Amino acid sequence: MSSFRAPVSSSKEVFRDDLFKGKVLFCTGGRSGICYRVVETMMSHGVDAAIIGRDAKGLAESAQALEKATGQTCLPASADVRDPKQLEKAVKETVDKFGKIDFVICGAAGNFLAPIQGLSSNAFKTVIDIDLLGTYRTIKATLPYIRESEGSYLHISATLHYRGLPYQAHVSAAKAGVDSLSNVLAVEEGPRGVRSNVIAPGPIGNTEGMSRLTPKGTNPENGVPLGRMGDTGDIANAAVFLFSPAASWITGTVTVVDGGEHHIRESLLPYPQSVLAPEKVKDLIKGKL
Ligand code: COA
Repeated sequence: MSSFRAPVSSSKEVFRDDLFKGKVLFCTGGRSGICYRVVETMMSHGVDAAIIGRDAKGLAESAQALEKATGQTCLPASADVRDPKQLEKAVKETVDKFGKIDFVICGAAGNFLAPIQGLSSNAFKTVIDIDLLGTYRTIKATLPYIRESEGSYLHISATLHYRGLPYQAHVSAAKAGVDSLSNVLAVEEGPRGVRSNVIAPGPIGNTEGMSRLTPKGTNPENGVPLGRMGDTGDIANAAVFLFSPAASWITGTVTVVDGGEHHIRESLLPYPQSVLAPEKVKDLIKGKL
């Protein structure tokens, strides 16, 4: 594989060490997976961070590991993005600790494979509540501080909703909403110096999302033009760029980071068998139908 297609081993090969010195990041969903790596990378360039999630014990462990890896400060602020009061409390803890917020990542998300027929109203609502309303609530709770710092937002979306993808109605609806919300935020807040952008990750290896969405026995690498699974570092590098001054004229955009996968992606499950006879594919899926 040519050196340009391989993942860079460290963002420091490309970006300046102290790029974000003195800045403060607020990240929902930062305990693990893609967002953990983004926070770690941003911290390695000098940012102090607050990570937000439901699992207080896991958050504390992650915050400790992030501090140890980067030498920066990380505040674990436990909150469920489904509860506006908990989010407001997490924002207050962040501002009490660091005095301000410059960057926000709306990364908390939930997903599972299920056809519309197998989705209860509560199941659909749960994903909308975490992904879409959670993003809205995070924006509402942080906006006064982001206006003050003329900071910027990054939303972690997906490519699932670019076409109709069976078993992904709940997430497709939520992520389409996230993309639109970011565009309106960019336009409404741009005149105040605030930016808002989206990253749409493709299949990223070693993440909970991939383990939930990859049907057993399939190899997601097969459908990627650039010939490999994504690495969490690929998303982190795009995030560093979008938060950096090099992106100061970039707002209201979606950056797809997927090795070209969405252009040729096929249904995750055999089609049309999976929609005509869901019971026949249930063994391929983690969770219930
Ligand atoms: N298929 C169909 N329905 C499902 C489901 C599945 N695989 N998993 C959960 N649901 C339904 C539940 O049955 C429930 O509906 P009901 O009350 O009508 O029975 C509803 O979704 C809420 O589930 P619950 O487990 O009570 O919610 P939760 O808050 O504990 O979990 C989820 C939230 C469902 C999004 C869960 O998948 C989760 O916690 N995910 C977080 C991590 C994650 O998904 N990461 C990947 C991001 S890409």
